[in-house]
Amino acid sequence: MSIELKNVSYTYMPGTPMERQALMGVNMTLERGRFYAIAGHTGSGKSTLIQQISGLLTPTSGEVLVEGVPLKAKSKEDKRQAALARRRIGMVFQYPEQQLFEETVAADVAFGPKNQGLAEEEIAQRVQKALALVELDYEAYGDKSPFQLSGGQKRRAAIAGVLAMEPEYLILDEPTAGLDPKGREAILELISTLQKGGRVSD
Ligand SMILES: Nc1ncnc2c1ncn2[C@@H]1O[C@H](COP(=O)(O)OP(=O)(O)OP(=O)(O)O)[C@@H](O)[C@H]1O
Ligand SMILES: [Mg+2]
Repeated sequence: MSIELKNVSYTYMPGTPMERQALMGVNMTLERGRFYAIAGHTGSGKSTLIQQISGLLTPTSGEVLVEGVPLKAKSKEDKRQAALARRRIGMVFQYPEQQLFEETVAADVAFGPKNQGLAEEEIAQRVQKALALVELDYEAYGDKSPFQLSGGQKRRAAIAGVLAMEPEYLILDEPTAGLDPKGREAILELISTLQKGGRVSD
């Protein structure tokens, strides 16, 4: 039960004057249910690394395996398996609140599960559960516009949108960036609570 990176290298815009090698032979194993923090100075490749794991970028060389399934696939069946494996991973981008766009908080959180083709009832349940996980009261905030929330609440709503897809692994890119010390602490506490729960979906 793990995500494995095997000798992963990544070069942006290879063969152009803008060529830039961002990752060089990265090997790591991320066990399910554990908490990992990646630290490094600006431009060191943290965002590039997590985008390999979420399947948004494909390694220039090397491979990423999610529970044994390679994300880089050639045959139709392998591609299907890779798509299923990718679904196990929830990705929260830096400043995710900038991507809130629905009219209400509840609709925004429902967006992912809707895309997964779930039934209305299941979607409603997941929205309630995800908002409860991030401690945004459904009654108080569900019908509000995301723009009526504070910065920290917006981030929680955005994280709820990813949690509602019930990923088994959760990857967050600089989840505390731009928040005040209290907001930071609250987000870190939330992540710790999610991690203690074992599966993100539990
Ligand atoms: N789309 C891109 N095109 C070309 N080069 C890029 C691109 N994105 C990132 N890079 C380069 O790849 C390297 C790693 O960038 P990355 O964004 O992964 O770093 P980071 O550790 O996440 O930095 P930060 O802490 O500032 O978010 C940097 O040198 C950056 O300039
Ligand atoms: Mg980054």
